Amino acid sequence: MAYTVRELGRRTFADFEILAEQQGSCWCIFYQRAKPAGRGLSPAEQRRINRRDKAAFVREGRSHAILVYDGRTPVGWCQYGPADELPRIDAGRGYHKVGRPTGSERLWRITCFFVDRKHRGKGIATIALEAALRSIEKRGGGIVEAFPVVSERMAAVPEWRWFGTPSMFRKHGFERVAALGTSGVLMRKRIPPGGSRATGSSAAERSGTARPGRGR
Ligand SMILES: CC(C)(COP(=O)(O)OP(=O)(O)OC[C@H]1O[C@@H](n2cnc3c(N)ncnc32)[C@H](O)[C@@H]1OP(=O)(O)O)[C@@H](O)C(=O)NCCC(=O)NCCS
Repeated sequence: MAYTVRELGRRTFADFEILAEQQGSCWCIFYQRAKPAGRGLSPAEQRRINRRDKAAFVREGRSHAILVYDGRTPVGWCQYGPADELPRIDAGRGYHKVGRPTGSERLWRITCFFVDRKHRGKGIATIALEAALRSIEKRGGGIVEAFPVVSERMAAVPEWRWFGTPSMFRKHGFERVAALGTSGVLMRKRIPPGGSRATGSSAAERSGTARPGRGR
């Protein structure tokens, strides 16, 4: 099965909505806010506010994600972006101890995956990760952070694997930096700028199709 990938944006927001409705009330906005919003509100009200705010972020070009399609059907996403677009990570106690890397390189984060239940276990999250890494390379590269779940109890529940797993990132050249409490780990990878090389590195990419790969 060949899948295609597209960036989240005004034109693909309706496709993102289809998946976000399935996911629940988060709308993949939790890490985009420095502080929690909507405490004490009903789930329906939270959903309304999160959808409204996510739509605004997308309109303003302040929300990045890869959408994966099976034909015309959106089946998964991977949220990524510059660190300042995903500031909630900085508030984590474990992350706070380590801090952002020093130096002038741009800092990127990969915070969330979601795959339609019917399509899980087929490598779609991996396809989305690979496309996100290509996008980061195309946008000038830098240091990329990931926060995969290491707690076995959490990793056993698909809904708690939204950060992805360490093996996904290891296979793509990420290295462990520090524990984040008992449930997660901080991993980082440096991506040099790639420009057009990043978009033309394989026939599958040129044709807009993608299959799960073995890493870069
Ligand atoms: C986590 C999730 C994204 C994985 O998507 P997927 O397309 O099934 O994942 P892939 O097939 O690409 O596999 C990626 C990794 O997930 C892990 N994985 C996949 N299926 C698994 C399973 N049944 N049990 C344990 N780990 C599993 C593996 O570690 C795999 O990597 P590896 O093959 O390199 O070891 C999916 O289960 C999901 O969407 N869960 C809900 C997350 C959520 O609620 N997100 C919303 C946040 S707002």
